[in-house]
Amino acid sequence: METVLSGIRSTGNLHLGNYFGALKNFVKMQHTDRCFFFIADYHSLTTHPDPAILHGNVTNVLSEYLAAGLDPDVATIYVQSDVPEVTELSLLLSMHAFVGELERTASFKDKIRKQPENVNIGLLSYPVLMAADILQHRATRVPVGKDQEQHLELTRRFARRFNQIYGVEYFPECQPYVFSGEGLVKIPGLDGSGKMGKSEGNGIYLSDSDEAIRKKVMKAVTDSGPTAPDSPMPEVIANLFTLLRVVSTEDTVQHFTDKWNRCEIRYGDLKKQLAEDIVKVVAPIRARIRDIAADEDYLSRVVRQGAEKARESAGKTLADVREIMGIKPFGRR
Ligand code: TYM
Repeated sequence: METVLSGIRSTGNLHLGNYFGALKNFVKMQHTDRCFFFIADYHSLTTHPDPAILHGNVTNVLSEYLAAGLDPDVATIYVQSDVPEVTELSLLLSMHAFVGELERTASFKDKIRKQPENVNIGLLSYPVLMAADILQHRATRVPVGKDQEQHLELTRRFARRFNQIYGVEYFPECQPYVFSGEGLVKIPGLDGSGKMGKSEGNGIYLSDSDEAIRKKVMKAVTDSGPTAPDSPMPEVIANLFTLLRVVSTEDTVQHFTDKWNRCEIRYGDLKKQLAEDIVKVVAPIRARIRDIAADEDYLSRVVRQGAEKARESAGKTLADVREIMGIKPFGRR
């Protein structure tokens, strides 16, 4: 049995990228493995969200996790800031994380570009906290999308380094969870940009109405169509097919691929089919979100139970790490 962990920042509602990149795989794994799923609220503080909306964002993400099928009686579902052990582990790991390697991560460089007025230490040490999230449960599998690949590589490096320095085989080297043979998933935006994301403002959300989904898909950027049979696909069209592959049947994908190859494709038809297939995924989840979000008692029971289980697991790791690093209470040799 593997120990599986994944998390999502609480910076707004979940979109199809979060769902297909991380959540959907996790929903499957919870029944076979030891699973932890958490809401990364500390990580969301790096961009200074309004304190008045932070808790609401955590509630949204939690409700959406549960609506998507995470079962709190099977998996451990918790809020990052309910498990203070992670901050101490992050501090301890930071002693062996070098400023140079953190400065070189793509996400840090990206943030420096986007928010030059707010290059805080939390941004720099973001991957260390993320490593602590993973290593506190000694997780071996981490279902994430392609954008998190470099962070996982750093986590493996920190784990290896810790083991080497202290001459132990304590931390496992976690692997991403690759669902298909195609590697980690990257769900594109429909605005012609590379990635669907909250900060990109191009998301199709699990809370979107059917009408909103249809509108967004019908507005997707396309081109003037293929000019010769079997032409290579431009990126904006390949993006539509990437989405089609995650929400539609193989027959549907084949149908539109054939149409493309024969230069007979009508983008209007493709978009209509894509919108209906997205609606089929989202509508049942959305219906559950509303009920779950309204049940405060249930939500607080879920996070209390999750925090208890997560703290037990993290506390054991932290005690071992303190011991390995030589931090010992008085009265014991
Ligand atoms: P976050 O909140 O940006 O995204 C949560 C998860 O959704 C995936 N994802 C995508 N996958 C495919 N295509 C997309 N367009 C797309 N957009 C988002 C992300 O890869 C991620 O799996 N640093 C993390 C949160 C985190 C974490 C962790 C994850 C903190 N600690 C420990 C795993 C393990 C983040 O910002 O994800």
